[in-house]
Amino acid sequence: VNWTKTEKATITDIFSHLDYDDIGPKALSRCLIVYPWTQRYFSGFGNLYNAAAIIGNAKVAEHGIKVLHGLDLGLKKMDNIEAAYADLSSLHSEKLHVDPDNFKLLSDCITIVLAAKLGSAFTAETQATFQKFLGAVMSALGKQYH
Ligand code: HEM
Repeated sequence: VNWTKTEKATITDIFSHLDYDDIGPKALSRCLIVYPWTQRYFSGFGNLYNAAAIIGNAKVAEHGIKVLHGLDLGLKKMDNIEAAYADLSSLHSEKLHVDPDNFKLLSDCITIVLAAKLGSAFTAETQATFQKFLGAVMSALGKQYH
């Protein structure tokens, strides 16, 4: 993936203001609510019975923060994103058997929650750059699938 200076600056700027503890839980819970089949991977997380239970589930919140921090790997290695996600890709494919289609669902939830938080600061250019970044991360996460 090639990045322009402006794209790099935009990504750095987004992450420098990113409220992981807010966006992470909201994005993961939205994914589990809107795409309920994604719940199947989180059977160890306890009560996911309905939207209120998911939003109030401490394990979901904690994992949402962890996942969002997973994006830091790509941020730190924007010019070699595939290498940055080699281990996480193996984990999600070989150990967790997560269907890679779900990466797109979660990444869209992250985008929606971020857009809601940033409001008018989330311009069309910002969105395009952020989605390009998430697309690169998803593609790297999918690399170890065969
Ligand atoms: C674990 C990142 C998407 C299911 C993890 C971990 C990270 C991570 C950092 C922790 C790894 C560790 O503890 O060493 C990401 C990123 C994603 C993503 C960056 C894309 C934005 C998904 C999706 C699913 C999923 C879409 C399923 C729908 C899991 C599960 C675990 C896990 C089940 C283990 C949870 C546990 O029992 O602790 N992921 N993930 N991930 N991920 Fe993902």
